[in-house]
Amino acid sequence: MGGKRMAIFCDADANTWSYLERHGLGELADCVIFPERLNDVSDEILQHSSHAEIISTFVYSNLSADLLENFKNLELIATRSTGYNNVDMEYCRARGIRVANVAGYGEVTVAEYAVGMLLNLTRKIGFSNYKLRNGIVKVNEDTGMDLFGKTVGVVGTGAVGSYFAKLCHAFGCNVIATDPFPNGKLVDAGICKYVAIGDLLAESDVIALNCPATADNYHFINRDTIGQMKDGVCIINIARGELINSMDLYEAIISGKVGGAGLDVLDYENVIIKNDIESVKNSDKNFAMYSLFNAKLLQLPNVVVTPHIAFNSSDAISRILDSNIRIIRDFIAGRPIQSVI
Ligand SMILES: NC(=O)c1ccc[n+]([C@@H]2O[C@H](COP(=O)([O-])OP(=O)(O)OC[C@H]3O[C@@H](n4cnc5c(N)ncnc54)[C@H](O)[C@@H]3O)[C@@H](O)[C@H]2O)c1
Repeated sequence: MGGKRMAIFCDADANTWSYLERHGLGELADCVIFPERLNDVSDEILQHSSHAEIISTFVYSNLSADLLENFKNLELIATRSTGYNNVDMEYCRARGIRVANVAGYGEVTVAEYAVGMLLNLTRKIGFSNYKLRNGIVKVNEDTGMDLFGKTVGVVGTGAVGSYFAKLCHAFGCNVIATDPFPNGKLVDAGICKYVAIGDLLAESDVIALNCPATADNYHFINRDTIGQMKDGVCIINIARGELINSMDLYEAIISGKVGGAGLDVLDYENVIIKNDIESVKNSDKNFAMYSLFNAKLLQLPNVVVTPHIAFNSSDAISRILDSNIRIIRDFIAGRPIQSVI
């Protein structure tokens, strides 16, 4: 193919923009940069860019079959994230579109954040700060709990989960874990032991989700699994919102069954993060219902919600963009790339 390849960057903030400029990707490819989600680009502009061969995306764009149908020449989707559940993988497989993610850029970054959320909850840091800013000092409401000696259940011990397990071990926690592919090194180092999921649910004071969202584990945290947990359990989710049924979690927190939750991700989080109200009108009734419970969760004092920012340290962003650009450069040069499909 003659001439430059065309690459679209969507969900691209100012950081991404200046990084691309500094690293001269424009010399290799015609780059079209959309600050918004690809779903929100107008039909006219979409048509102009529809001959793109490469899409670089973050998690906000929903690369559904319908949207991807517009890109007849598409060869590569390179995500600027580890997760790629916003991409219709079945469709890509059928059309021979490669999908490459950024693996292992941020185990330290994301695990540190998860510990931050955990401490925020267990020591009521955000709650106490919020009250103080409003002139309320009631220290008897701010009593927390130590992490030392508590049992932490880690669901998924890949890059993030393994590092999170190590950090919790350093706090003096008893770490138990579940993963279809256990990490023998963690066991050998005495960091954690692997248990069946039922035991993890029953024994943990803290449950931390660090696994991908798949069709099999949609709303894995629900009324039934919460029922198997200890009273007062604390739940941390930095992984994917689809892992938790927000309605069931809300009701369990209101009833006192769940003691607190740290949620960096939410099912249908785009309504909150991207003010994606249009989709509410066009989408299924679950969309509206879970969005309502997300909004209710936001108001609870023992819930900390953040807008999908666990990855968001300057160190990690450099690693993500370096990796994304390297993948695109290698792909254009015909060099082998590591991809999911
Ligand atoms: N909030 C953020 O900013 C942010 C940033 C990075 C990663 N993430 C998310 O965090 C999660 C973990 O990222 P990672 O880099 O450690 O991924 P990873 O691929 O290195 O590890 C995932 C682990 O989960 C395990 N797993 C898969 N299904 C499981 C199941 N049903 N139960 C238990 N374990 C299961 C896998 O075997 C693997 O060991 C992913 O969902 C990723 O999308 C979020």
